[in-house]
Amino acid sequence: MSRIITITSGKGGVGKTTVTANIGISLALKGYKVCLIDADFGLRNLDIPLGLSNRIILDILDYLQKLCSFNHVVVRHRTMKNLHLVPGSKKHLSEMEFESFVEMLSEIDPLYDFILIDSPSGLESGFFYALNGADEAIVVTTPDKTALQDADRVIGILESQNKQQLSLFVNGYKHNQEIENILQLLNINILGAIPADVNIIAANNKGNPIALNPSLQSGVMFRKIANNLSKHHYNQRIDLSSYSQNLYTHRKLKLSF
Ligand SMILES: Nc1ncnc2c1ncn2[C@@H]1O[C@H](COP(=O)(O)OP(=O)(O)O)[C@@H](O)[C@H]1O
Ligand SMILES: [Mg+2]
Repeated sequence: MSRIITITSGKGGVGKTTVTANIGISLALKGYKVCLIDADFGLRNLDIPLGLSNRIILDILDYLQKLCSFNHVVVRHRTMKNLHLVPGSKKHLSEMEFESFVEMLSEIDPLYDFILIDSPSGLESGFFYALNGADEAIVVTTPDKTALQDADRVIGILESQNKQQLSLFVNGYKHNQEIENILQLLNINILGAIPADVNIIAANNKGNPIALNPSLQSGVMFRKIANNLSKHHYNQRIDLSSYSQNLYTHRKLKLSF
């Protein structure tokens, strides 16, 4: 049995794919069997930070249309054989294909410890399907005002449905106080927060997510956040005091929650 976790957001471009890739990598580094599903239909980009774009032959649509087996569609990570990717489709899915998506989740449930779904942002087509079979949902937001408004809306909808355990991920903050303000506004459990960090963009572009690099602050933070996720620990302060400050490009080392 796996924990099926949907990573979603109100607004696009807030870091869902980055968070999915880095939490996935971190959980795989801990030895868990992890499947990452690119369900942001129409976009397809989870393969880029994972460095797997050249390895894709088939995509999720081929599987949902029953043109191939799951074993054929899945792409294994180059160095971590316990990390699998189901590549996304550049086409949007039909109603019937969405239903097969939910069936797929129950089929692959026994194969993994964690299934992470990189989902469409709030209320786009496919949003509810990417949540349907999930046990948990992580809502990613930046401190940006419009992102927060949209996150608030999505959290309201998800809370009213009461189907998944919900938590928040603050991405791209610049000051610790921003996290406090967001928590006061949204009043939800927080899984973690990652600062705005140019190293994250560089790592994504290289196809080596920052979590693979424990000498960079954001890499360590992603690993700690994934560790908290694996233990169902929310609202944890990330303590980086055991790491040398000289390694970091950011001066603020401690989050204030
Ligand atoms: N913490 C961060 N600091 C700086 N840039 C980031 C951070 N997180 C994500 N990015 C960059 O922001 C852009 C959007 O991120 P992405 O994960 O693709 O968002 P989404 O999947 O929500 O559309 C990408 O170029 C990514 O490299
Ligand atoms: Mg994305």
